[in-house]
Amino acid sequence: MALLFMLAWAAAALWGFCSAADPFASFDWNVAYMKAAPLGVEQQVISINGKFPGPIVNVTTNWNVAVNVLNSLDEPLLITWDGVQQRKNSWQDGVLGTNCPIPVGWNWTYQFQVKDQIGSFFYFPSINLQRAAGGYGGFTINNRVIIPVPFDTPHGDITLFIGDWFNKNHTDLRKELDQGKALGVPDGVLINGKGPYRYNNTIVPAGIDYETISVQPGKTYRLRVHNVGMFTCLNFRIQSHNLLLVETEGSYTVQQNYTSLDIFVGQSYSFLVTMNQNASSDYYIVASARFVNGSNWDRVVGVAILHYSNSKGKASGPLPDPPNDFYDKTYSMNQARSIRYGSINVTQMYIVENKPTILIDGKRRATLNGISYSPPDTPLRLADQYDKKGVYKLDFPTRPDKGQLRIATSIINGTYKGFMEIVFQNNDTRVQSYHLDGYAFFVVGMDYGDWTENSRGTYNKWDGVARSTIQVYPGAWTAVLVSLDNVGTWNLRSEDLDSWYLGQETYISVVNPEGTNKTELPVPDNALYCGLLKDMQKPQTPHAQGEKSSSSLRSSLVSTVMLFLAAFPILLW
Ligand SMILES: *[C@@H]1O[C@H](CO)[C@@H](O)[C@H](O)[C@H]1NC(C)=O
Ligand SMILES: *[C@@H]1O[C@H](CO)[C@@H](O)[C@H](O)[C@H]1NC(C)=O
Ligand SMILES: *[C@@H]1O[C@H](CO)[C@@H](O)[C@H](O)[C@H]1NC(C)=O
Ligand SMILES: *[C@@H]1O[C@H](CO)[C@@H](O)[C@H](O)[C@H]1NC(C)=O
Ligand SMILES: *[C@@H]1O[C@H](CO)[C@@H](O)[C@H](O)[C@H]1NC(C)=O
Ligand SMILES: *[C@@H]1O[C@H](CO)[C@@H](O)[C@H](O)[C@H]1NC(C)=O
Ligand SMILES: *[C@@H]1O[C@H](CO)[C@@H](O)[C@H](O)[C@H]1NC(C)=O
Ligand SMILES: *[C@@H]1O[C@H](CO)[C@@H](O)[C@H](O)[C@H]1NC(C)=O
Ligand SMILES: *[C@@H]1O[C@H](CO)[C@@H](O)[C@H](O)[C@H]1NC(C)=O
Ligand SMILES: *[C@@H]1O[C@H](CO)[C@@H](O)[C@H](O)[C@H]1NC(C)=O
Ligand SMILES: *[C@@H]1O[C@H](CO)[C@@H](O)[C@H](O)[C@H]1NC(C)=O
Repeated sequence: MALLFMLAWAAAALWGFCSAADPFASFDWNVAYMKAAPLGVEQQVISINGKFPGPIVNVTTNWNVAVNVLNSLDEPLLITWDGVQQRKNSWQDGVLGTNCPIPVGWNWTYQFQVKDQIGSFFYFPSINLQRAAGGYGGFTINNRVIIPVPFDTPHGDITLFIGDWFNKNHTDLRKELDQGKALGVPDGVLINGKGPYRYNNTIVPAGIDYETISVQPGKTYRLRVHNVGMFTCLNFRIQSHNLLLVETEGSYTVQQNYTSLDIFVGQSYSFLVTMNQNASSDYYIVASARFVNGSNWDRVVGVAILHYSNSKGKASGPLPDPPNDFYDKTYSMNQARSIRYGSINVTQMYIVENKPTILIDGKRRATLNGISYSPPDTPLRLADQYDKKGVYKLDFPTRPDKGQLRIATSIINGTYKGFMEIVFQNNDTRVQSYHLDGYAFFVVGMDYGDWTENSRGTYNKWDGVARSTIQVYPGAWTAVLVSLDNVGTWNLRSEDLDSWYLGQETYISVVNPEGTNKTELPVPDNALYCGLLKDMQKPQTPHAQGEKSSSSLRSSLVSTVMLFLAAFPILLW
């Protein structure tokens, strides 16, 4: 007992980031390539502990999480936790502006607390277009028992990852973008890493492994659906079943029934689905490409199977219809507006406009306000910490730039405790998703045309839902409000993988002028150093690729400590 007690203290002291009263959850991940053929063509996908998609991090509000990531790929790696807010802790955000990438063969332990959060999120590799090869998984934060939830506990909890997919691997796709080519039409849509059920012999070849979700008749399940794809908006629906929307990216919504919902890249939704059909056959679960044209998109459809335990046969016949508004996005926009949650003094206002990709210095690039972001070798937040000047400029334009298009490391100077209004203006012909790390923002308006001062009159300021990823329709704008109360350097980016890779991102730097360290956690002891700070990095002996780290011992130790903490929390006080 005494030994365990000491271990508990040692663990708490070692991980200075955490509050000892809250439980720990520790994970050991080996991130490695794996052969798979989700659409019938063999390729290298990115797996975690041999799984594709990776494991679901299933934790509860306020838990301390440690994830030891071993990079067994052949290129640097960072994992980011999309929508998990990382209060006061941009050090763990896992993007190039805050972290040095984990070198090949090295491991690095992320440590953070999921403070006051609840809901459905996901993680993925943030650099080098690696998300196109997988490496993603769910991040579920459950409510504490004493916190009520606005619906009855469902019978089961099912996570679905939907996303467009290419048979080319991520290094080949990267090469195409580097050569200035567009990626073209995806080869299909995966559901939980698997190809479509053979609903049509012409469209789907034989021998493809598909996902089956098994359920009990009469029961209600919570489905957490994440669009983890490259750039395709997907319409999600289940044959003959209602989707009762209850949550999006950590906010409970006004509960509404949908027969289908458009899920944009990077977005997460929870639906309650009641298995109230007669099970005369299995049912189709469909995720099909939206707002696209032409028969070469016919294959961009994911189909899984909903199988009742008393099902009388296989699913057959045509898929349930998508919404019938091929050329009209009004339905989708109204649907987005229907997802809902005084007087605010906006202190900063940015109109952030994207343009179709263009050539800058002979390279094809994507821009925001005329600037294509270029990540420096030194992470911005580390540069601040160690007073390295000139790594970036706080000069991101507040309005679309009419001047010279340029490649630069230009970011936004956010006013701590201010209220920022950001209007995303989409000048491209493709729908776009934008994401802000570290925050949930309130979506207050969207409409077609150019945003003007008068557009504020249409804002919904009282029950806009708070979320972290929002779509912007082509030729339209979306306005969000964000309260800048989280100190750190936070990534604002296109969630569309190709646009992001080509430079459609920036950061918002939020500094507490009082210089106190109470509003931001200190640099973690295990921080990696690179760029101008590379001399600070202690060497690490690379692990042999694919080798299991010797950490199962540590895991079991931590589990024991957790048990101890759970059993005797009073002793620690
Ligand atoms: C991707 O595929 C190409 C061949 O098309 C191959 O040369 C390359 O090694 C592959 N990359 C990975 C990471 O598997
Ligand atoms: C996740 O954790 C919650 C709370 O501990 C538990 O009730 C639930 O069964 C877990 N879900 C999965 C999918 O493991
Ligand atoms: C790498 O993993 C080993 C074993 O789990 C652990 O002891 C070590 O602290 C880790 N290194 C880093 C830099 O996280
Ligand atoms: C299968 O798809 C093809 C091509 O879209 C279509 O022509 C055909 O009618 C479909 N077959 C069935 C049985 O639905
Ligand atoms: C959703 O649909 C179900 C079944 O049709 C119904 O019982 C329920 O009242 C509906 N809920 C809302 C919020 O419309
Ligand atoms: C089951 O429901 C479907 C439509 O929902 C209906 O067409 C069919 O006749 C029903 N089958 C039985 C056995 O009740
Ligand atoms: C579909 O194609 C037509 C004609 O080529 C074009 O006018 C329309 O804008 C396209 N729609 C979409 C959503 O790309
Ligand atoms: C907004 O600003 C006005 C004038 O500066 C001030 O009177 C008011 O209290 C502020 N409102 C809020 C909510 O901060
Ligand atoms: C950034 O904004 C703060 C106020 O929030 C201001 O004091 C500071 O001078 C600004 N820095 C630059 C470089 O503009
Ligand atoms: C893009 O901007 C140009 C110039 O302001 C405008 O003429 C064009 O209609 C815009 N296109 C879209 C899709 O918004
Ligand atoms: C926080 O700041 C105080 C004084 O400014 C300093 O004594 C303390 O060591 C700092 N704590 C950390 C964890 O950096």
